Amino acid sequence: MKVTVVGAGAVGASCAEYIAIKDFAEEVVLLDIKEGFAEGKAMDLMQTASLMSFDTKITGTTNDYSKTANSDVAVITSGIPRKPGMTREELIGINAGIVKTVSENLVKHSPNVILIVVSNPMDTMAYLAHKVTGLPKNKIIGMGGALDSARFKYRLAEALECPQSDVDGMVLGMHSDTGMIPLTRLATRNSVPVSNFLSNDRLAQVLEDTKVGGATLTKLLGTSAWYAPGAAVSSMVQAIACDQKKMFPCSVLLDGEYGMKDLCIGVPVILGKNGIESIVEIPLSEEEKEIMEKSAVAVRDVNALLN
Ligand code: LAC
Repeated sequence: MKVTVVGAGAVGASCAEYIAIKDFAEEVVLLDIKEGFAEGKAMDLMQTASLMSFDTKITGTTNDYSKTANSDVAVITSGIPRKPGMTREELIGINAGIVKTVSENLVKHSPNVILIVVSNPMDTMAYLAHKVTGLPKNKIIGMGGALDSARFKYRLAEALECPQSDVDGMVLGMHSDTGMIPLTRLATRNSVPVSNFLSNDRLAQVLEDTKVGGATLTKLLGTSAWYAPGAAVSSMVQAIACDQKKMFPCSVLLDGEYGMKDLCIGVPVILGKNGIESIVEIPLSEEEKEIMEKSAVAVRDVNALLN
């Protein structure tokens, strides 16, 4: 398995680091436009190999896409991150051009690649990647739900005062502060609905904290987060590399599923060697359906800005 990570900033480097530490890929290529930056990050990471016990080979390149040739998976993290107070949607002006060029270059050198899109506004950037590459719809996967669900589980465990390994939950919808849909109804602690343990008010707080999970970190850090985004990507790449058939909420192109078409939005999918093996349709409550519809409207509004 050869993995390319475009963008050697904090998120890209964390992706490369976690992929290497999990030791399932032969090779990770880091690519950045800043002269020497990806080479430096790759060398620094390679000097952790004997300490962290991995054999993955990490190399860096300054914008030379020939080095990414025949990648099985490529992760797009390039573009600018949010500053405190900004929404992900505000990044579209700069990031759309970057994601377009990067997607085209990747597919030119790796026609069979599976793309994982991280750059924001992520749902729209995944949609754009479809438009510019024409890759089959199982091969473009937006990373948002895996991260938002991890943040949801963190908040649930905090409220339940229990280990995160006790909790399960999923976040669907748009990867945005207002479009996210944490499915509190279906969240459990060891199969027991969390509503058995938490009041409606406490659950509402968990929901709100989850939705602004990225913004909370951006405020604290002065830029957007990288550890959890990198870890979320590494789990998705691992599911593909190891053909795990693991379920993640991901932003994928819908063609009638959930009653929607021609947009990328977060829904549960099975990830395996073909990328998206299938889209899982779960019955939503009337209220959840309504929120999902609103979320889709918000995604379409941002998609419209592409024109
Ligand atoms: C975040 C970015 C990756 O939510 O969108 O931290």
